[in-house]
Amino acid sequence: MFPLIRYKILDTYEELGRTGAKIIAAQIAEKPNAVLGLATGSSPVSIYQSLIADYRAGKLDFSKITSVNLDEYVGLGGDHPQSYRYFMQKNLFDHVNIDPAKTFVPNGLAADMTAECAAYDERIVKLGGIDLQLLGIGLDGHIGFNEPADSFTEETHVVSLHPSTVEANARFFESADQVPRSAITLGIGSIMRARKILLIANGPAKKEILEKAISGPITPRLPASILRLHPDVTVLYTEE
Ligand code: GLP
Repeated sequence: MFPLIRYKILDTYEELGRTGAKIIAAQIAEKPNAVLGLATGSSPVSIYQSLIADYRAGKLDFSKITSVNLDEYVGLGGDHPQSYRYFMQKNLFDHVNIDPAKTFVPNGLAADMTAECAAYDERIVKLGGIDLQLLGIGLDGHIGFNEPADSFTEETHVVSLHPSTVEANARFFESADQVPRSAITLGIGSIMRARKILLIANGPAKKEILEKAISGPITPRLPASILRLHPDVTVLYTEE
């Protein structure tokens, strides 16, 4: 295993949440105006629950934090219950004192997607980059929505979702044909430029792809494998 990756196996999903939240809390303590790169999916939910509990207990202050989300479905607006903006509001933003004007999620309804992608990258540069990037991993090894491909894409871009991703994410929609076929995602460049990375996964279905990412070849066919070239990565996994 690459020595700079810290790999921790937790007993429960709740413990993964608490451990992940501690890492994020440490980042906020070190830099109260940190830029947090945030993620959606089922894996980060217990982290967000733990952060909300800490905030309610008066242990955390999000007032100076800026957040930049990884991705969004093309075609879904922020009030669509399956949009990632909606997910972030319901699972974190509505429950803590983060300034709504400092929460960024790509706009899935932008009329000009090329301009939206370029503006998203520019914003991250202007913010001084991402201090801590939270990531889940897809069953095909995707991070954000960077799907397996022949090469890594550096910039924020629009991707066609892999059939296995559409299938995996169908659980959140009424049926698979309602899952958008494309998404806007942060590229590998902005992810790799984040100062710290926290990759989380839960459930036996993720174990094999996670281990391949950590110890197999570094290849755009398994996008998460690129993280081995990053100097500060923590991986949290629980079988639960
Ligand atoms: C989606 C998201 C990813 C996320 C992945 C895993 O496709 N775009 O950012 O990491 O799903 O999701 P889950 O945590 O629900 O398994």
